[in-house]
Amino acid sequence: MQNIVITGGCGFIGVNLIRFLMKTDESVCIRVVDNLSVGQLEDLEEIQRSEVGGSRSESEPTGIELVVGDIQDADLAIKACRGMDAVIHLAANTGVIPSIEDPRADCETNVIGTFNYLEACRVNGVKRFVFASSGAPLGEQEPPIHEEMVPKPISPYGASKLCGEAYCSAFHGSFGMETVCLRFGNIYGPYSTHKGSVVAKFIKHIFADEPLPIYGDGNQTRDFIYVEDLVDAILLALEKPNIGGEVFQIATHREHTVGEVADVLNRLAEKHLGRKSEIVSEKERKGEVKRNYSDISKARRILGFEPRFDLKSGLELTFKWFLGES
Ligand SMILES: NC(=O)c1ccc[n+]([C@@H]2O[C@H](COP(=O)([O-])OP(=O)(O)OC[C@H]3O[C@@H](n4cnc5c(N)ncnc54)[C@H](O)[C@@H]3O)[C@@H](O)[C@H]2O)c1
Repeated sequence: MQNIVITGGCGFIGVNLIRFLMKTDESVCIRVVDNLSVGQLEDLEEIQRSEVGGSRSESEPTGIELVVGDIQDADLAIKACRGMDAVIHLAANTGVIPSIEDPRADCETNVIGTFNYLEACRVNGVKRFVFASSGAPLGEQEPPIHEEMVPKPISPYGASKLCGEAYCSAFHGSFGMETVCLRFGNIYGPYSTHKGSVVAKFIKHIFADEPLPIYGDGNQTRDFIYVEDLVDAILLALEKPNIGGEVFQIATHREHTVGEVADVLNRLAEKHLGRKSEIVSEKERKGEVKRNYSDISKARRILGFEPRFDLKSGLELTFKWFLGES
């Protein structure tokens, strides 16, 4: 793949993905579409090796080109996808809680935005579309979650991601587009300073010498995946032939409690900062599932995906990045 549109490329996953592509593929041309509502230009600038300027050029990009715009803009989507080989669609409302607070905004960004980029691919003959989905479409299910389960979202965010998956399936079925949906686990890693997810939040609290808030009893579980492993999965989804219309769980197949994450981070805090943070219990939050981890057998079998980082090593790398050591 030479010419790739990455929506949401200024965000946490986008910046890590682009950083990796810039290091490993000299010939790749990336066009980022981001409205900078969350993502930061500085992170992209740090890794860029050519012009970034908010231009809306329709010509072939070189290096990284940033198009500042909203994925709800259908005309912009058509222009941004012209002449491109693939789209990696990351831009979204990314949170369960914001989707409960404002379900319409979540729907407009995640449903209409995703539709716009699928339609732009159809119009421009772009062959492959990789969609950043989540475990949220499945809702509260007995883990490990897997691709054969009937989705039962319990949040507007889960519903809007499920809708994105449905359109991906439809564009494969009706137009032969090679759409691939990746249901990401809980991702952590460098360039996540702006994230409210548990790992980033705990590290920020530790650095501010504040207590670590745990919602409920701390026994809620998640499948935490280091961002470099996720980048591997995205690139496999971009390149593997004959996987159009497929959905894959992308995680580690391991279940860890939020309490465990707090303990590992506190041990790192003791080692690197000479202190640790108190753990405080807060009220459980609505819409969040109690236990969650993924069966990744299908991704292993079909994509050849294999996560390389365990929780301890991934958290140490992340902690060191926050310390400015990597
Ligand atoms: N981080 C995780 O743990 C996780 C887990 C499951 C799924 N995902 C999915 O992965 C994708 C990327 O997540 P992330 O963690 O990098 O999020 P992020 O918030 O760091 O990045 C999202 C980027 O999209 C941009 N954006 C948001 N709305 C936009 C709009 N309307 N138009 C244009 N740009 C817009 C933001 O400015 C930001 O740069 C999302 O689709 C998210 O739902 C993430």
